[in-house]
Amino acid sequence: MDKTLKPIIEKVHAREILDSRGFPTVEVEITASGHKSISAVPSGASTGEFEALELRDGDTKRFHGKGVLKAVDHVLNNFGPALIGKDASNQKEIDDLLINIDGSSNKSTFGANASLGISMACSVVSATFYNKSLYHYLNPNSNVMPVPMINVLNGGMHADQGSDLQEIMLFPHGAKNFKHSLQMGSEVFHCLKKELKKQGLGTTVGDEGGFAPALKSNDHAIELLLNSIEKAGFNIGNDISLALDVAASSFYKNHKYHLKVDGSVLDTDGMIGFYEDLIKKYPIVSIEDGLDENDWEGWANMNKVLGSKIQIVGDDLFVTNVKRLSKGRKEKAANSILVKPKQIGTLTETLEVISMAKKANFSTIISHRSGDTEDTFIADLAVATMSSQIKTGSLARSERVAKYNRLLRVEEEL
Ligand code: PGA
Ligand code: ZN
Repeated sequence: MDKTLKPIIEKVHAREILDSRGFPTVEVEITASGHKSISAVPSGASTGEFEALELRDGDTKRFHGKGVLKAVDHVLNNFGPALIGKDASNQKEIDDLLINIDGSSNKSTFGANASLGISMACSVVSATFYNKSLYHYLNPNSNVMPVPMINVLNGGMHADQGSDLQEIMLFPHGAKNFKHSLQMGSEVFHCLKKELKKQGLGTTVGDEGGFAPALKSNDHAIELLLNSIEKAGFNIGNDISLALDVAASSFYKNHKYHLKVDGSVLDTDGMIGFYEDLIKKYPIVSIEDGLDENDWEGWANMNKVLGSKIQIVGDDLFVTNVKRLSKGRKEKAANSILVKPKQIGTLTETLEVISMAKKANFSTIISHRSGDTEDTFIADLAVATMSSQIKTGSLARSERVAKYNRLLRVEEEL
């Protein structure tokens, strides 16, 4: 193939780098027709049971077993040689090749951390080759900015203390534009910090850059935040509403939901009732992973009761997987999907899920992982897929802010 007309892959390289939690992750470097791209793979903590496999070395002599040298080796020696000479811009062909070489149904042979690094790097190098911004390369018609869901209070598995609710997010739907939404978020974030200090509460941040104070109850967390929105001069419900990621699978044991901070143990109906009360009391417009990832019947009930009023988001439930989304659609389990490329392991499969979600009238939310890097791929992905929202943490910690800053630049271009 003519190297001047297409980005033809010449070299595939990979290395072990560190993510925002200081654990190793995979970085892939691809050279195609003289252009080079680098992509880094993120890593979750409250991972879904049905996600594609993240390959870790398990060698306790290195990084407490969390090394990724095996995945790096698979990029170099199992995938790499097969990719040389291929057109990096033929994403479907590249990703099919990765899926076939791995051969398993969940990337368990060579790891989704190996395949995703290659898959992203191929699209990035192609955008560079064609001298286009990544979002524009992925979709020349993209013209809308996502609303950021800004995770200012971290709890659950993303903090040592804090609420049972893993994420309490600002949903600044009243902003004039993306830039304004970040300003609003930042102003509230700093009011919240002042308020926490005033109440003698901790202001250290959790994995996604939100504060993680020890709180009396889940209501206490929400009320603190509402107070800060008002202090920052915004109208609750008009300018800014709230969104939750409950990550309920992480506290579901023996068919019950264990809310430690509230000291309550609830069954599925109890949890749905808990959310009904919350949305009556507070301007909550979106609830993610309100129930366990295997509680399909519960999800359908929850969507029946709450789905006409708020966004019901499946993250661990769908794991960016068409089969699970297809089941969810049939069973009317939700009305929105959280999209994390890492959960499935290739860009093509990620785009397929998004396209299925859109056909089913589900909103799509592009998301980071709690362990992330300076890579800003998902910012462009959110714009390219015209997703209504992006979830990429708080307005602290550079790996979170990097995505928001990238979106500021994209908004100027658009
Ligand atoms: P994770 O969390 O990256 O730890 O899976 C993010 C989320 O649950 O949305
Ligand atoms: Zn989640």
